[in-house]
Amino acid sequence: MSEKMEGPSLAERAVEVLTTADARAKCALSRRHAAAWFAAREAGTALPVGRAAPPDRPARPARPELVSPREVPRRRPGSRAGRIALLHAIAHIELNAVDLHWDIVARFAHTPMPAGFYDDWVKAADEESKHFNLLADCLEAAGSHYGALVAHAGMWRAAEDTAHDLMARLAVVPMVLEARGLDVTPEMIAIFERAGDEQAVAALKVIYAEEVGHVAYGAKWFNFLCGRHDLDPRETFHALVRRHFHGTLKPPFNEEKRAEAGLPPDFYWPLAEEGAAPRGPAGTA
Ligand SMILES: [Fe+2]
Ligand SMILES: [Fe+2]
Repeated sequence: MSEKMEGPSLAERAVEVLTTADARAKCALSRRHAAAWFAAREAGTALPVGRAAPPDRPARPARPELVSPREVPRRRPGSRAGRIALLHAIAHIELNAVDLHWDIVARFAHTPMPAGFYDDWVKAADEESKHFNLLADCLEAAGSHYGALVAHAGMWRAAEDTAHDLMARLAVVPMVLEARGLDVTPEMIAIFERAGDEQAVAALKVIYAEEVGHVAYGAKWFNFLCGRHDLDPRETFHALVRRHFHGTLKPPFNEEKRAEAGLPPDFYWPLAEEGAAPRGPAGTA
């Protein structure tokens, strides 16, 4: 790596994104840093990964107010207000995902990983930034905006619960939480199709296509680390999810898209409601 490489290291760039509070500014910076990373990679002068301490919690705007999930009002998606609430909730998830991907870059920078690991998470962070912008645009087109409603306060919990363990982070964030997105997105697309909201349908289709990649990056690097440490991937995944994930895996699963992302059924079915659900036909696509 060149000594003359301009500007901050990748980990320092990650911390800059994490400590930017304004949502649009966070996403713009995220996209700029991603472009700089890939430009340097293509030029054969990769940015150093470096070291920088990520904050315990990422900076966020003053609005939306973050409340416990019980206080997030449930609205019927059949109504216009319900669809705005749904877009707002997904925008909040996407903004959290921007921070999650930059956090994995900075927090585990002391673990030596191939450059492809950083390519994948920087690309994922860039895509989450695009996803947030698309949804914020949809909200604004509907006369609302990100911050107009309350949002779920518990989103950073998975990051805190796995802050000490890269394999646990990969198991819980991309392989459980982002995989869950693959299960539920087709129904969300259907909601906006029924409402004739073409802008939201287009945004959600971009998200649905690109999220398969994020789950795949999780599975790829989880398997890589299992190989490095001579661990059985399936058993290790089950043990880490049981220890570090404080939720349940709920069928139906999108078996087709999960398979496309390299998540075999014997990874997630044994964790579904911890044995309560019989194995059967499922899939939402
Ligand atoms: Fe996303
Ligand atoms: Fe994602």
